[in-house]
Amino acid sequence: MTRISVTVDGVRYDDDVEPRTLLVHHLRDQLGKIGTVVGCDTSNCGACTILMTNADGQRCGVKSCSVLAVQADGSEVTTIEGLAGPENSLHPVQKAFHEKHALQCGFCTPGMIMAAVDLLTENPDPTDAEIREGLEGNLCRCTGYQNIVRAVRAAAEAMRTAEPAPSTPEAPEAALPDGGLPKAEPSKGGVPEEVVPVPAP
Ligand code: FES
Ligand code: FES
Repeated sequence: MTRISVTVDGVRYDDDVEPRTLLVHHLRDQLGKIGTVVGCDTSNCGACTILMTNADGQRCGVKSCSVLAVQADGSEVTTIEGLAGPENSLHPVQKAFHEKHALQCGFCTPGMIMAAVDLLTENPDPTDAEIREGLEGNLCRCTGYQNIVRAVRAAAEAMRTAEPAPSTPEAPEAALPDGGLPKAEPSKGGVPEEVVPVPAP
């Protein structure tokens, strides 16, 4: 077993993991982050997409079934469960998926939304072709992708036109910095008290 420390959705978790454990299984089985789903386990479908800081501290979209948990040691991870804003307000991409009917069965949706957040962080005003290219690693068996593209376009516009947050000494940034992601809370350290292991499907 190897000791790792990963900050997930603003909370630091210290755990012992087997070197062969995939990050997606660590998130689901040890940390209870079952919003991140497993569609293929072979890095084809994108359902397990999360955001993870790289060596340069940049947050990038990653298929968490293609990363070992030990490789995430020291990283900050954002899952679909960490996207919501204050008082559980939906992230603009989540809101747009809801309003544009960009899902049917919903299985691809967590990964699709995380990939869209990653895309809009890199390119705040993508064309439809750029949206399709940006999401090409994420498969959907239901929607035909049309409404997904509409949703990402709507989210991009909403994020570009969002009112800046009031400039106070406590909150000097714009309303939607860093892809509209909520700020991480200070590390609490240690393993949370209520971690319920959930078996992978
Ligand atoms: S479960 Fe990771 S890409 Fe399909
Ligand atoms: S909504 Fe069913 S797989 Fe995308």
